[in-house]
Amino acid sequence: MAHDAIAVVDFGGQYAHLIATKVRRLHVLAEIRQPEDDIERFRGYKGIILSGSPSLSAFGEDSAYTRDIYDLDIPILGFCFGHQEIAKHYGGTVVHGAQEWGAADLHVVGDSPLFRGLAPVERVFMSHFDSVTSVGPEFAEVGYTSLGAGGPAHRYAAIASESLRRYGFQFHPEVDDTVHGDAMIANFVRDICGCSPSWTMEQYIGEQMERVRRQVGDQSVFLLASGGVDSTVAARLLGEALGANRLHLLHVDNGLMRKDESREVLAAFRAFGLDRNLHFVDASDVFLSALAGVVEPEQKRRIIGQTFVDVFEREARALGIEHHLLGQGTIYPDTIETGGTRRADTIKTHHNRVPIIEEMLRQGRVVEPLAELYKVEVRELGEKMGIPADLIWRHPFPGPGLGVRLLCSSGAEFRDGMEQIEPAVQAIAARHGLEALALPIKSVGVKADLRSYEHPVLLGGPLEWTPLLEAAGQLFKQAPGINRAIWNLGPTFPRRVRPLAAAVTRERLDLLREADHLVMEGLRRHGLYGDIWQCPTVLVPLEVDGMGREFVIVRPIHSERAMTAIPAPLPAALRAELALQILALPGVSGLALDVTSKPPGTIEWE
Ligand code: XMP
Repeated sequence: MAHDAIAVVDFGGQYAHLIATKVRRLHVLAEIRQPEDDIERFRGYKGIILSGSPSLSAFGEDSAYTRDIYDLDIPILGFCFGHQEIAKHYGGTVVHGAQEWGAADLHVVGDSPLFRGLAPVERVFMSHFDSVTSVGPEFAEVGYTSLGAGGPAHRYAAIASESLRRYGFQFHPEVDDTVHGDAMIANFVRDICGCSPSWTMEQYIGEQMERVRRQVGDQSVFLLASGGVDSTVAARLLGEALGANRLHLLHVDNGLMRKDESREVLAAFRAFGLDRNLHFVDASDVFLSALAGVVEPEQKRRIIGQTFVDVFEREARALGIEHHLLGQGTIYPDTIETGGTRRADTIKTHHNRVPIIEEMLRQGRVVEPLAELYKVEVRELGEKMGIPADLIWRHPFPGPGLGVRLLCSSGAEFRDGMEQIEPAVQAIAARHGLEALALPIKSVGVKADLRSYEHPVLLGGPLEWTPLLEAAGQLFKQAPGINRAIWNLGPTFPRRVRPLAAAVTRERLDLLREADHLVMEGLRRHGLYGDIWQCPTVLVPLEVDGMGREFVIVRPIHSERAMTAIPAPLPAALRAELALQILALPGVSGLALDVTSKPPGTIEWE
């Protein structure tokens, strides 16, 4: 192996790629390995990290993997499921139970090199069902966790055997909620494995261009270019790898774009020299008629993805380039959220992962140069390739566009489980002096790496940001069936709300476009556009006033990789301005701010 490298064993979900990203940030090559890979594929690394798993339990039947790795004389570190496997392999015990989810305090015991440079107590993130209750003779506990002062301790949250060079963390250092997780991973990679920095983004660009040339051979690529960060960077990389004459770009107005979006995107592409073979089609009628009357979120996503392919094929035929490969700016989260890695649950079907595209992928007809990267890396790569900053730093916008921000409804209330939900919500809200209303609609979320489709709670009251988030956190932990909390910005707190029958229509989209435009303008006016990572505006068919007018939700978040997110506060002045402007739009009667972290809410509502 040319560089020092770490193998990351992928037991499912988002974890292995997050770990690999953190290792690459140290300029050390990280390669993903499947658990059942032949032992030969694990040789030559300076260390191995075993990921956690959303679905595997230490008691599961599907937990077969290449256990010969334990015979290799290289350091191994496991997280969560990986930690439990290491404990078990060397004579410890693991039990079902002591399940935890959320932040915990790690108390460091002794002076393990894993925690060098860190504080005696560190904030970490726990998400597990099974627990280690004893370790084998060569292991020691190097950390335990507690939930606040005086809370019960979770033993063996970090274990180590210096003689064997085997280590385990029950928590997840790879997620941002573990405050110094990066430092813990760096301690393992640099100090314990002895890796020195040798891997760079420039090398990665070179490797990807080479890979693209091999895959494409003497063919050409037709790329769907939305104007978003990912497809623009993909266009640039493909253009460099293949030459501009072997790349055609198609920008589709699917009717689900932001206000004036297509016009601005085409102008930006021209200014940026990406107009050599640039094609544009207004397919809004095709998309809107395909979506007519459809309410269910996953069905909407599949229809939008399928319609993209239909439009693409029709245009390719019209241009006489139907034999071209399909290019997409797919990035890693699109794949995992669609359940595209071996052990991941389908959280959402991303538009670039619908069945017909999966089939084209199997036939080798899709070129995706960014499919292993997270947004933060795509931006880094784009900057290295000279893409202008205003394109790179645009807020991410999902492929299905406003289609996943325009909730639809048959008009029927979702009241399943409300007998348990309502009293629990009221009890928690009362403890915080808040008004609360569990809403009879649902939105998509993610809990313990699995998709959830549950109720939001509307909160109201004179509140500070931090106590509001605390109340929301308690609702998610203690009330059943809740995956979102929103904070009322309207002048009165509604006593009762009712879903309205609503579908995807041009009128509703225009209303959402207008509200979204006001929010974006507001962020820019207050100098917040760059601080906030993304800010979906959502139109929800809920009436609060008996006049058939809808609810608007604003969802500002901070994130890095979109796999996790925290709600971003908006200044009071901006909240007041938005309330004035948005509540004055004809067709709107309610406004709220989404105050949900991810998990348990996803960034988009559908
Ligand atoms: P969620 O809602 O899953 O979103 O927390 C994570 C990030 O992905 C974006 N997103 C998509 N991007 N195609 C995309 O290209 C999609 O189908 C899609 N769905 C969600 C979302 O905007 C957020 O940045």
